[in-house]
Amino acid sequence: MILPKEVERKLRRVLREQRQQAKLLTHALPPRAKVLLVGPPGSGKTMSTRALAGELRLPLFTILLDGLITKFMGETAAKLRLVFDAIRETRGVYLFDEFDAIGGQRTLMNDVGEIRRVLSSFLHFLEDAEPTSVIVAATNHPDLLDPALFRRFDDVIEYSLPTEELARKAFRSRLQGLDTSDVDWQSVVGAAKASSFADIVKACEDAAKEAILGDTDVVTTETLLRALEDRRGVRGRRAASRWRADPAALPIGPRGVSAETSLRRLSQ
Ligand SMILES: Nc1ncnc2c1ncn2[C@@H]1O[C@H](COP(=O)(O)OP(=O)(O)O)[C@@H](O)[C@H]1O
Ligand SMILES: [Mg+2]
Repeated sequence: MILPKEVERKLRRVLREQRQQAKLLTHALPPRAKVLLVGPPGSGKTMSTRALAGELRLPLFTILLDGLITKFMGETAAKLRLVFDAIRETRGVYLFDEFDAIGGQRTLMNDVGEIRRVLSSFLHFLEDAEPTSVIVAATNHPDLLDPALFRRFDDVIEYSLPTEELARKAFRSRLQGLDTSDVDWQSVVGAAKASSFADIVKACEDAAKEAILGDTDVVTTETLLRALEDRRGVRGRRAASRWRADPAALPIGPRGVSAETSLRRLSQ
């Protein structure tokens, strides 16, 4: 996996503290156990969490908040409690994916008070959680999260789109074993500007399949450029539908409060 230095450093620090948690705990120092991963889709948040679990040889559990939050506050709180019971009882890595749903689903709620209670019960559970399990929250929309929330995590790790250098590495690593000696890297990397790691990996796989099915191991600049172009098409359509579906874009918060404002008010 290809990561910016700072991201890698922070992930390694979590691993180190988790691996030697007994040592830290004898000095009353809690190991890092609660991390928030922030960054655009396809930048490696889920993949890193899987890697953490793998390195620690712990099971990975993913909690989709989208499905957990219902319009009944009591039911939501009860489900959250079950999740945190499991976190206490079974050591593992627990990924709260699409973490912004805790605010994004607010139109389902009857009023601001209920949303505030979901968030505050989450924060309460989070605060009480022992540092034996690792709790990872991931979001593509940090702007939907309340700043107060960031402080509850031991680390906030920021992912980004690949720099030119990392994009180049990503291409080379995914095309390893194929003949890329004729590839004009400058134009390929240039065309991948604003592409995510996920887009680059997919484009490489498309180009590799094309080569292999054509009974050659030669990957050309043209196939790579075309594959990138195809990915961009897919992403453009996805982004458009997301925009329409995003409740934060609509001023329909409870009692006429805009969604953004109502979320910000939760922490006050
Ligand atoms: N930093 C990275 N290095 C290498 N491959 C990556 C990276 N980030 C994403 N990918 C590729 O994209 C796929 C999707 O990434 P994922 O971790 O699900 O992104 P996110 O959770 O940030 O939306 C991964 O399975 C992997 O193939
Ligand atoms: Mg993800």
